[in-house]
Amino acid sequence: MGRQDDFFKHITEGNTNKGEYLTLGSAMLDGKTIEKAFVNVPLKTMNRHGLIAGATGTGKTKTLQVLAENLSEKGVPVLLMDIKGDLSGLAQPSPGHPKIDERHAAIGLPFNPKAFPVEILTLSEQNGVRLRATISEFGPVLISRILDVTETQAGIISVIFKYCDDNKLPLLDLKDFKKILQYATGEGKEEFQEAYGRISTASTGAILRKIIEIEQQGGELFFGEKSFEVDDLLRIDEDGRGYINIIRLTDTQDKPKLFSTFMLSLLAEIYSTFPEQGDTGRPELIMFIDEAHLIFNEASKALLNQIESIVKLIRSKGVGLYFVTQNPTDVPEAVLSQLGLKVQHALRAFTAKDRKAIKLTAQNYPDTEYYDTANVLTSLGTGEALVSALNEKGRPTPLAATMMRAPMSRMDILTDSELKKLLSESNLVKKYNEEVDRESAYEMLNEKIEQAEAEEAKEKAKQEKEALKKAESKRKSGTTRKSTRMNPIVKVLTSATFIRSVFGILTKVMKK
Ligand SMILES: Nc1ncnc2c1ncn2[C@@H]1O[C@H](COP(=O)(O)OP(=O)(O)O)[C@@H](O)[C@H]1O
Ligand SMILES: [Mg+2]
Repeated sequence: MGRQDDFFKHITEGNTNKGEYLTLGSAMLDGKTIEKAFVNVPLKTMNRHGLIAGATGTGKTKTLQVLAENLSEKGVPVLLMDIKGDLSGLAQPSPGHPKIDERHAAIGLPFNPKAFPVEILTLSEQNGVRLRATISEFGPVLISRILDVTETQAGIISVIFKYCDDNKLPLLDLKDFKKILQYATGEGKEEFQEAYGRISTASTGAILRKIIEIEQQGGELFFGEKSFEVDDLLRIDEDGRGYINIIRLTDTQDKPKLFSTFMLSLLAEIYSTFPEQGDTGRPELIMFIDEAHLIFNEASKALLNQIESIVKLIRSKGVGLYFVTQNPTDVPEAVLSQLGLKVQHALRAFTAKDRKAIKLTAQNYPDTEYYDTANVLTSLGTGEALVSALNEKGRPTPLAATMMRAPMSRMDILTDSELKKLLSESNLVKKYNEEVDRESAYEMLNEKIEQAEAEEAKEKAKQEKEALKKAESKRKSGTTRKSTRMNPIVKVLTSATFIRSVFGILTKVMKK
């Protein structure tokens, strides 16, 4: 047998699966695509996370598109963080191109243009399903981590949450949170001191400043109601295809804090609500994070630890996380070591730093009988990548320089009218896009303060009157106790309390 035949056998044997799988393309040898030497990823190991890396323009985003549509076709829902806004084309079929035909002829795979079920979500006021969460749902632990406060300040935040629980004050948005912080060292100072000890103005001031930082990044749009239910990410269309949920983050990339806040809350929510998965042989949800360096670069140490832990834990819920970034070194070592699928597009050796990155990357893919990895890494063409997956037994598949298949959907964005039509037909837009500002801590505390002030004024007037009377009739007057009765409960905070208790458990697990 010749070298090419040996290679074909090596690849096809290493890519044979009993269960369902995705085909990414065909393996290449000495720069030539070997027809039907298919490179496959079993659905079974897709919850083992992955990485798509490579220099700008080498095909990372298209690889993400290919993975997303093939998952959808297999009935697996997908969540995409679309930072550059170039993935909405998934909702329209590819118009085709001679280059695509050429590519698919070389791979030995038919090309069938198709549109996929897409839902567009947004963190801002852009068109799309509004994603929101309440402060209560975040809970004190996560809020403290996101605000990156000191231990003492975190303690105060816990007390604030406890107070709101005890007094049935819903904490929905940042306005509520700020109000209660001001109240704790202002009008409610004595009440707080009596029940929980003294709270210093310096500490609440510091927390307030951190909140303002989040607000400046558009946080007030994100915190509030109606909270997004993560189960809505798991929808399947009438043809059995998984929905591709695209979160448009085009105006969020310069707001790293909001972005990482959102990411983490979403992961936490998924972790706490999804059931533990048995060995079903397929993932529940696959999440792709494009331009992932944005979260890792800007995240605080505490946040990074939290991300690392969640990456580890969320696998058991059938959720796979795929990071898309230029250099694998953008991803922390602790996360990198947990990734099952690696799709490495070309790296460019312009600077000494580039060459170092290539060397480091090559070490993760040891040389094989067929490849000199460092050499392949710099000579891959556009839409070609070194692929290493985990087979159904969890062992690495043969390393393969791969000619990647083309996306079946459009490799370009939707037009304005296409986007409008998509949104007008969305059930989720109907469900989530109404603004709600129901009575919560802010309004209730204001009312309470007003009430107290009114009572005080009344009391004063009464005392004056009585003093007058006393002077007149020399009779003693009684005092009425000041009422601090709360408003009736608006919403039972069970779900928030539940999520928080799960978080309590989670933090304990992570400390071990
Ligand atoms: N799998 C593919 N099939 C066909 N064309 C591709 C493929 N991957 C990349 N391309 C071509 O390369 C261009 C750049 O790819 P892209 O995924 O946007 O790069 P990156 O995200 O790495 O910057 C695309 O616009 C497309 O023309
Ligand atoms: Mg890209």
